[in-house]
Amino acid sequence: MWDSMSEMDDVYSDLILDLYKNPVNKGRISRPDLHIEGGNPLCGDKVVFHMKISNEVIEDIKFDGMGCAISTAAESLLTEMVKGKKVSQAEKLTQQEMFNALGGKVIEARTKCAMLGLYTLQKGLMEYKKNPQKNTTITGIVIK
Ligand code: FES
Repeated sequence: MWDSMSEMDDVYSDLILDLYKNPVNKGRISRPDLHIEGGNPLCGDKVVFHMKISNEVIEDIKFDGMGCAISTAAESLLTEMVKGKKVSQAEKLTQQEMFNALGGKVIEARTKCAMLGLYTLQKGLMEYKKNPQKNTTITGIVIK
């Protein structure tokens, strides 16, 4: 995690700070169908999504792991964006839509922080679709 107090004051929007302090959908769900784990080896941050999927719809999703303010805020927003949506809709979300959800601007050096959750989720869903089974765990997704 790269968050310093001065960076928090200077760079982060109130939205990012609020979601970092009070993340939405952080935790686990009971009897999930799918776990997707990913990380950024450069900083060591990790995210795990826990999901209930029925008829190709993401019925519930929560996340946990360890991340910086931007990645935590982005993962909070992402879970809200995909909950109740089809897997195919989650797969089509773009980097720009993630940036827009975060308030429209993420400094270039922190792009990977903003994208850790979306990249992990989309890669994991691609793998899951090859063999959609209950209680699947997909690990080893690395953002580059
Ligand atoms: Fe690791 Fe932001 S510093 S994801």
